[in-house]
Amino acid sequence: MAENENRRAPGQVRDGIIQVMSLTSKGLTAKEIGDRVSQVVGPVKESSVRSYLRLNTPQLFTREERGVYTLRQDSAPALQRPMPPMATPQAPLTFGRATLHHADCFDWLEQQPANSIHAVITDPPYGLHEYTDEQQAKLRRGRGGVWRIPPSFDGHVRSPVPRFTTLNDEQLKDIRTFFYVWARLLLPRLVPGAHVIVASNPLVSYLVSGALAEAGLERRGEIVRLTMTMRGGDRPKAAHDEFSEVSVMPRSMWEPWLVYRKPIEGRVQDNLRQWRTGGFRRQSQEKPFGDVIPSSPTRKAERELAPHPSLKPQSFLRQLVRSALPLGEGVILDPFAGSGSTLAAAEAVGYASIGVEKDDRYFEMASSAIPKLIRFTPKGDQSRR
Ligand SMILES: C[S@@+](CC[C@H](N)C(=O)[O-])C[C@H]1O[C@@H](n2cnc3c(N)ncnc32)[C@H](O)[C@@H]1O
Repeated sequence: MAENENRRAPGQVRDGIIQVMSLTSKGLTAKEIGDRVSQVVGPVKESSVRSYLRLNTPQLFTREERGVYTLRQDSAPALQRPMPPMATPQAPLTFGRATLHHADCFDWLEQQPANSIHAVITDPPYGLHEYTDEQQAKLRRGRGGVWRIPPSFDGHVRSPVPRFTTLNDEQLKDIRTFFYVWARLLLPRLVPGAHVIVASNPLVSYLVSGALAEAGLERRGEIVRLTMTMRGGDRPKAAHDEFSEVSVMPRSMWEPWLVYRKPIEGRVQDNLRQWRTGGFRRQSQEKPFGDVIPSSPTRKAERELAPHPSLKPQSFLRQLVRSALPLGEGVILDPFAGSGSTLAAAEAVGYASIGVEKDDRYFEMASSAIPKLIRFTPKGDQSRR
């Protein structure tokens, strides 16, 4: 083993150790750290990890009881701060064929058996920034930070949206790392041919996309959710009158959902027979699944059922979820489940699903929102079993 270790660029193991430790909420043993780093950068000797930890404790790491290490808050790069510990994890919740876990998905993924997930549909935090404790406190206070209320031009009060133009170079780099590590942990758990569909936005999608490809997933296109996002379109700040005919950025009227796939085994037909995955479920015999889906912003009635700041609408999610299992068989995963809207959509179209949410408040919200979203009938609903 670890024969490759000598050929690795200096610092890669060190960076891997810091990355994996900054993306978890719990302390890890040297063995657990070694296993995770191996999944990210290739085989690493446990003894190398152990000596690195020993050499850099207490400067970088804290050794807790029973050989468990944590990364020191002040030693982590700006946004790779270790996750704050979760309150006591709650027991998983089930709603029909949907199960929601209260956990950090990086930790949770590591525990999952190989080849157990048939599709991923998720709307992740774009990096860690807008879901850090600091930014969530600012969102709940309604002041400052990355969240802002879009201007009201038609008398409607808007929900806050994260403003990604405030991210600095370091934070953008963290987004790439976050998705790379996430995809490396995800890959072995996917069956060959499983699709991974990830919500993004035009400002950071190139980073997410690059990280997923680099981690070993295969790019299969992009789904355009045609929707008025309330991003961009504004006149220059504090110079509205002087430059009244200027928009600083285009008003964004679509949202990219990146489409990736775990490489298939053999031909698509072989993969479909063996793993039940590899393609998309058609809308009907005549109509293939298409990559542009018109979608209204999430309406008030739905937001009242699930008041998560990033709630995605059922009408859109049900179409996406339905398409992701080509034969209607298997399990859909949403590792950043929020209020559980993907799970509700899966249950509504008759699929099994698993969600993971680490925030206590959103987990709690999901427990009451999922049953209501399952029963919710969107206007002009086109999803069907
Ligand atoms: C963009 S929101 C998803 C909202 C969802 N689309 C909905 O409709 O409710 C991302 C969610 O991921 C959660 N999250 C962030 N990091 C996580 C992690 N490491 N493990 C599990 N959940 C995480 C956040 O608390 C947040 O609720």
